[in-house]
Amino acid sequence: MRGFIFDLDGVIVDTAKYHYLAWKHLADELGITFTEEDNERFKGVSRKRCLEILLEMGGMEVSGEQFNRWLHEKNEDYLSHISKMDASEILPDVPRVLDYLRDRNIPMALGSASKNARPILEKVGLLSYFNTIVDGNEVVKAKPDPQVFLLAAERLGVSPNQCVVFEDALAGIEAANKAGMQSIGIGDPDILTEADAVFRDFTEIDVDYLRGLLAGSQ
Ligand code: BG6
Ligand code: MG
Repeated sequence: MRGFIFDLDGVIVDTAKYHYLAWKHLADELGITFTEEDNERFKGVSRKRCLEILLEMGGMEVSGEQFNRWLHEKNEDYLSHISKMDASEILPDVPRVLDYLRDRNIPMALGSASKNARPILEKVGLLSYFNTIVDGNEVVKAKPDPQVFLLAAERLGVSPNQCVVFEDALAGIEAANKAGMQSIGIGDPDILTEADAVFRDFTEIDVDYLRGLLAGSQ
């Protein structure tokens, strides 16, 4: 039996742009230059680790209290961006792939670093597709550590080498590879060079490819 694990931000929903806007807002406030290229390093990485990286970029050291205030501020800003989210922000052809797998009773998990994963899935109406949700509230070791995906596989009752992971982040591809899983990148092949296969988005993943994944021949 094969199991499928999906990252959330940048794979299922187009929230990567909102994370970027919220970090950019904080970076501007702190006088730190932060570009979309810098943002690649933030993808798949926990909120706390992102702020540590941002402060390192700015050569800043702060007290724990100030650190937590900025974490909170970034999240509030992010929440204001996603508050009006609905199904229109599901990335192209994601429902088609989820339906294909659900119709065949394939175990599916969400494996995300985000602490906002559940409310986002609820907002866009996709929560019920997943047999289990492993998110940033449960996982101590963030991607590129494989913990999030290993826990997802364990909960699905599928061995790691039978799992397929869809990821848009470098750190996530690394985590999937370390877990001994098949890693499929969603995004730019020039960035996701470590992935077993890369597609720009789910519109490029056809039924034949899905059949091959299920059969273990892809
Ligand atoms: C990941 C995103 O899914 O979640 C990261 O790719 C983000 O950019 C991380 O930092 C944590 O998200 P949140 O919602 O808990 O701040
Ligand atoms: Mg992601």
